[in-house]
Amino acid sequence: MSRAIRTQVAIVGAGPAGLTLSCLLAKAGIESVVLENRSRSYVEARIRAGVLEQGTAEVLESVGVGERMHREGIVHHGIHLQFAGERHRVPLSELADGRSIVVYGQTEVVKDLIKARLDAGLPLRFEVADVSVHDIETDRPSVRFSDDGERFELVCEAIAGCDGFHGICRPAIAANLDTFSREYPFAWLGILADVEPSSDELVYAHHERGFALLSLRSPQRSRLYLQCGADERLENWSDARIWDELQRRVALEGWTLEEGAILERGITGMRSFVTTPMQHGRLFLAGDAAHIVPPTGAKGLNLAVGDVTILADGLIEFLTTKSDVGLADYSARCLRRVWRAEQFSYWMTSTLHRLGDDPFDEQMQLSQLRYLVSSEAAARSLAENYVGLPVDHFAPWAAVGSA
Ligand code: APR
Ligand code: PHB
Repeated sequence: MSRAIRTQVAIVGAGPAGLTLSCLLAKAGIESVVLENRSRSYVEARIRAGVLEQGTAEVLESVGVGERMHREGIVHHGIHLQFAGERHRVPLSELADGRSIVVYGQTEVVKDLIKARLDAGLPLRFEVADVSVHDIETDRPSVRFSDDGERFELVCEAIAGCDGFHGICRPAIAANLDTFSREYPFAWLGILADVEPSSDELVYAHHERGFALLSLRSPQRSRLYLQCGADERLENWSDARIWDELQRRVALEGWTLEEGAILERGITGMRSFVTTPMQHGRLFLAGDAAHIVPPTGAKGLNLAVGDVTILADGLIEFLTTKSDVGLADYSARCLRRVWRAEQFSYWMTSTLHRLGDDPFDEQMQLSQLRYLVSSEAAARSLAENYVGLPVDHFAPWAAVGSA
């Protein structure tokens, strides 16, 4: 026997996509229930990326979770590219109409969203089990799950599949989807270190030994990454080996990388993946459930938030006016932006990482990097992609007609 519960939107997954969607819907007076299979402490401890596009920061602010982000997040107006022993600054804001990025950990975003949801007394259940989706081709879809040993059926008008790459929503409609993917023969070893960042702005370093990235979380915490083998084992990397490798890859005359205690460490695989369409019947996929980017372009979280702003618009229209025009267009609107971010992330990844032993590849990369720091047009292209294109970007000057 299962107990029936009703809501308007069932949201599977309490990552940035699911939580932001629940806040956008609540703001418009739409009811939702968020179901998460992990515990609150697990979700709040997961260390993820940390670059918010200005547009993402604005969405978070609009749903009332901007206060701590403004206080503790750090606004950046540029990034550095390092290659052939030199470091060059790309002035993002100058090149991209004054737009900037905010360095604020995804973990902190998730904590703020969970707190806002629970403080408002709205339904968010952690540690649910046996989650499955049903009747999605009808106008009464449902999600079944167990909570504390009791079985429930959540009957709703629409389901948002925000359960990440390994969730259950995408597999439930796999027969109706096409997928595109690319695996990379390398990964990132990332550390969080108790040391003042040695560079005020992010440094993306191309090096013959492999890529390295200097980022940060606060004025006292550095976040650093190293390209490593796809099957690399963390046990093979002592603290000394990690720092030694970082020192070699980011070395610059007249500048020193300061070292500190390593507080966290992990290896992240690299993958590009897109599902099309992002919907079937009354099930709508958003965020990592629908697409994955390698982290080099810092786009994962931003794409997730972009998806759910479009989904929220469609759901609000549907649930308040019964018009499904916005929902019908959900996937197509998202995918234009998703493919742009896919291409940008693929390009950043292949321009900055050591791809193999072919010296031709390295010469191609160095030429591209030199071009980026010597042509304003090339740098502007990087900048507008990095700070984030508007959700519905298009170039009116390029249209000569349509069929
Ligand atoms: N039932 C309920 N929840 C589930 C299930 C399930 N069967 N399977 C997975 N989940 C939860 C996960 O535990 C996770 O909390 O869904 C959530 C998905 O969150 P994310 O993986 O953070 O994905 P998303 O919200 O789309 O955010 C994308 O997260 O992975 C990063 O780099 C990525 O920055 C990007 C962002
Ligand atoms: C991070 O700070 O975690 C980070 C920054 C930039 C990236 C990826 C990750 O491209």
